[in-house]
Amino acid sequence: MKVSIIGQGYVGLTISLFASAVHEVIGFDTNQTIVNDLNRGLSHIEGVDSALLAERIADKHFRATSNPKDILESEIVVIAVPTPLSKDRKPDLAYVDAACKTIGENIGHPVLVINESTSFPGTLRNYIKPTIEKSSNKPVEHMYAISPERVDPGRGDFNQKNTPRLFAGLTPEASAKTREFYSKFCDQLVEVSSPEVAEAAKLFENTFRQVNIALVNEFAQIAHALGISVYETLDAANTKPYGFMKFTPSAGVGGHCIPVDPTYLAAVAEQNGAPATFIRRANEVNLEMPKYVVDRVQADNSGTLQGKSVLVIGIAYKPNVADVRETAAELVIKHLRDRGAVVSWHDEVVGSWHGESSAPLSGADIAVVITKHDVVNEQHILASAPYVFDTTGKVAGAKGL
Ligand SMILES: NC(=O)c1ccc[n+]([C@@H]2O[C@H](COP(=O)([O-])OP(=O)(O)OC[C@H]3O[C@@H](n4cnc5c(N)ncnc54)[C@H](O)[C@@H]3O)[C@@H](O)[C@H]2O)c1
Repeated sequence: MKVSIIGQGYVGLTISLFASAVHEVIGFDTNQTIVNDLNRGLSHIEGVDSALLAERIADKHFRATSNPKDILESEIVVIAVPTPLSKDRKPDLAYVDAACKTIGENIGHPVLVINESTSFPGTLRNYIKPTIEKSSNKPVEHMYAISPERVDPGRGDFNQKNTPRLFAGLTPEASAKTREFYSKFCDQLVEVSSPEVAEAAKLFENTFRQVNIALVNEFAQIAHALGISVYETLDAANTKPYGFMKFTPSAGVGGHCIPVDPTYLAAVAEQNGAPATFIRRANEVNLEMPKYVVDRVQADNSGTLQGKSVLVIGIAYKPNVADVRETAAELVIKHLRDRGAVVSWHDEVVGSWHGESSAPLSGADIAVVITKHDVVNEQHILASAPYVFDTTGKVAGAKGL
C-alpha cells in the first residue's frame, strides 16, 4: 500500500518504520531539519534505529518530505501530529487542523484517512472529516478511521508489533481497509464499535495512569507525615496478588500524554454536562508535586535556599529519553529559583534546553534527582553534593520522598 504519514515525531516515525517493512511510506513533516536528517538516515527518536531507517530508504520503502505534493498518490494517510494543550490548558487541535488542510488541499481522490493523534471522542467524526472536506477543492468521499497510538518511547518489550491496536472506522469499508493496513505489521487488532469508543479508550488509559500517579504522590506526602517509608509501604501492599497495581511516587508527570490527555477527557466531559472533578484534582495533585519537593528540600536545608547552588539531576520527563515536554523538572527549577537558589542542571541525554547546557555532575550544595537515566552512576549522584534529595526512589542513601 502507498501510505503517507503526516508528522514524523515519536509516533509518526515509529509507525513509519514498522509500516515500511511491508508498505511504501512517505513521511511528511513540516520541519525541514527533521526531513533532511531522516533522508540522510538519521533518526531523531530514541528506539528508532538509524541503521534500519537507512535500510528502508535504500530499499525505497521510506522517504521523508516537506512537500505536500508528495502525498498525492497515497491510498492511506495517517495523521500523527501533536495534540497539546493551549496556554490556558485547553485542547489545542491547531496541528490536526493543519494536517487536515494538507490532506484536503492536496488529495483529490478517495483515500483512507487514519487518525493516530490522541484527542477527545468525536474528533474524527466532527472535526477531522469536516475540516478535510471543507479544505478540499472538489467533493471527495474519503474513508475515515481512528487507531489511537500506544507507543511508549524508549520501551524495549512492547512495540508496534506486539501491542494490541484498537481501531474503528466511520464505515465498514474504512474498518476493513484499516485492518488490512495494520494487520501486515501488527499481531493483534481490536476493532471497537465506533471511533468514539476508540478515542475514549485511549484517553481513559492515560487518565488511569494520571489518577494513580496522583494517588501515589498524595500517599507519599501522607507517608512522610506519618514517618513511614512510602516505598516499603507500597512494596508491602504489592504483595497482595490481586486487586492492586503498584505505582511509584515522583516529582510529577511529564511527556506528551499523561499531563495532557486527561485534560482532553475532562474538557469533553464538561462540554457534555458530566463533571470531571476527580480527573481535574488528579492533575492538580501532580502539578503541585514540584512545590512539595522544593518545600521538603528547603525544610532539610535550614529553611532557606537563598544563594545555595542546586543541581537538578535528570530533566527529561522519564529515564533514558531526551523528551522534556511537560517535564516536572521545569516547575522544580522555577520554585527553586523563586526561592533564591542558584540552579543548574545535569542531563547528558538531553544536552541543552531553554538555552542552557548540561552542567557537570559535581560541586553543588544541594542535588535534586528528578529523573535517573541508566547512564548516570548512583555513586556519582551521591558525590555531587553533600545533600541529595531523590524523587525517583532509585538512589540508595539519598534523602527522598
Ligand atoms: N509520544 C508519545 O509517547 C505518544 C504516545 C501515544 C500517542 N501520542 C500522540 O501522538 C500524537 C503525536 O505525538 P508525538 O509524540 O509523535 O509528537 P512529536 O512532537 O514527537 O512529533 C510531531 C511531528 O509532527 C510534525 N508536525 C507538526 N505539524 C505538522 C503538520 N501540520 N504537518 C506535518 N507535520 C507536522 C512536527 O514537526 C513533529 O515532527 C499526539 O497526539 C500524541 O498525544 C504520543
